[in-house]
Amino acid sequence: MNILIVGGGGREHAIAAALKKSPKVEKLWCAPGNGGISRIAECFPVKATDLDGICALAEKLQPDYVFVAPDDPLVMGLVDRLNERGFKTFGPRANAAILEGSKAFSKGLMKKYNIPTAAYETFTDADKAIAYIKAQNQYPAVIKCDGLALGKGVIIAQNFEEAADAVKSMMIDGKFGKSGSEVVIEEFMRGVEVTVLAFTDGKTVKPMISSMDHKRALDNDEGLNTGGMGTIAPNPYFTKEIAEECMEKIFLPTINAMRAEGRPFKGCLYFGLMLTSEGAKVVEYNCRFGDPETQVVLPLLETDFVDIIEAVDSETLENLDIKWSENACACVVIASGGYPEKYETGKEISGLDENGQTSGAYVYHAGTKLENGKFLTAGGRVLGVTATGENLKAALDDAYKAVGKITFEKAHFRKDIGQKALSFDKV
Ligand code: AMP
Ligand code: GLY
Repeated sequence: MNILIVGGGGREHAIAAALKKSPKVEKLWCAPGNGGISRIAECFPVKATDLDGICALAEKLQPDYVFVAPDDPLVMGLVDRLNERGFKTFGPRANAAILEGSKAFSKGLMKKYNIPTAAYETFTDADKAIAYIKAQNQYPAVIKCDGLALGKGVIIAQNFEEAADAVKSMMIDGKFGKSGSEVVIEEFMRGVEVTVLAFTDGKTVKPMISSMDHKRALDNDEGLNTGGMGTIAPNPYFTKEIAEECMEKIFLPTINAMRAEGRPFKGCLYFGLMLTSEGAKVVEYNCRFGDPETQVVLPLLETDFVDIIEAVDSETLENLDIKWSENACACVVIASGGYPEKYETGKEISGLDENGQTSGAYVYHAGTKLENGKFLTAGGRVLGVTATGENLKAALDDAYKAVGKITFEKAHFRKDIGQKALSFDKV
C-alpha cells in the first residue's frame, strides 16, 4: 500500500513513523513534510493548504490512501476534493471538520445534544460582546475566536480591561483575520485537562490512550498559550471511571449528534476535556490528531495502523480490536527562542545524526529542514524529543537525557513536562 500524508509537522512525522512500521506499507509520501520526515518518506514541496496542488500530486502519485493531518486543509474541504477524484482518504469531510472550524457550531451542537461544556454566548458585534462581559462581571473570562487560529485564538482575561482588549483585537483589529469576526465568550472552567484522541468511522468510536498537553510556553504553566510544549501518555487523571463517564456523556453523544446532523465524522476526533468538580466537560473539539499529543499516543499503538485506517474507511471499526502498549510515553518540545511570538529560523541543530535522530529517544521533527546534510530550524516548534518507558518517570528521564544532547542557538524547552502527572498520586 502506498500512502500520501498531507502536512509537515511533528504530528505528521509521528504518523509517518507509525505507518512505516506496518508491513503493509510500501511507499510513504509526504507533502510538504520536513527535514526529519524526509528521512522516512519522500517529501514534495506542496503546501497542505494548496488544495489544487495536493490534488494534482495525488493524481501524479496515485496513492492508495491520502492521510490529511492538519486542521486547515480539512476545514477547507481537501477530503471532499480528493474523494470526488476517487481517492480514499483518512480525515473528516468539511461538513464534519466544522466541529473544529467553528467554535460557534461546536458549542451549538453541545447545547442541542446536552454534551457537558462551559456555559457560553456567541457575538458578531464587538460592543454587544463587551457589554455582556461587563454585565457578567466574572473573571477570569474566556474569549475565543470562532475560527482557526493555530491554537492561539483563546484569551483568558483576568479583568475587564484584558477582556475588552481581547474582543477588540479579535473583532475590530482583525488579529486573527476572518476567524475573529465572531467570538465565543464562555465560563472559565477549573480542573485538570486531558486530551483523548479517538478513532471513529461515524458510528463507532474507539478512544486511544489518553494524554496531557502542556500548552503554556513557560514552566509552571506561565507565559502565552502555544500549540503545545510537551505531552505525556497515558494521563493518570483520566481514570477508568472517568473514561466510562466520558464515553457515555461525551464521546458517543458527539458521534451520534454529528451523524444525526447529517455530518458523519470519519477520522480522528480530538476531545479536549476539563475534569471539573462537576464532571468532565469539553473544552474543545479538534477534527484531527493533536500536535504534540500524537507523538506520545501513536508510539503506544500495537495494532497495525493501516488496519485502523481501512476499518475507518469501510466503516467497520466496530469489528476491530485496537491494542495499546502498557508503557508510558513522554515528548518534550524544543522550540525556537521567542515562540509563540517572534523567533528566528535557519539555526543549525547539533546533536542529531544523519537521520535527524539521537540515541535513547525518537526525535520527531516539527520545524526543520535538511540542507547540505545539516538540519536547520525552520519553525516555532522545532523538535519533539520522545521516549517510552515502563512508567512515566522512566520515559521522562530518557526524553530529558536526549534533550540534553541537542542544541541550537536560542533553543527553549520546558523543564517541567510531566510533573503534574507525576504528582497525581499526591492530589
Ligand atoms: P482551546 O484552543 O479552546 O483548546 O483553548 C486553549 C486552552 O485555553 C485550553 O487548552 C485551556 O487550557 C484554556 N481554556 C480554553 N477554554 C477554557 C475554559 N472555558 N476554561 C478554562 N480554560 C480554558
Ligand atoms: N496540542 C493541541 C492541539 O493539537 O490542538
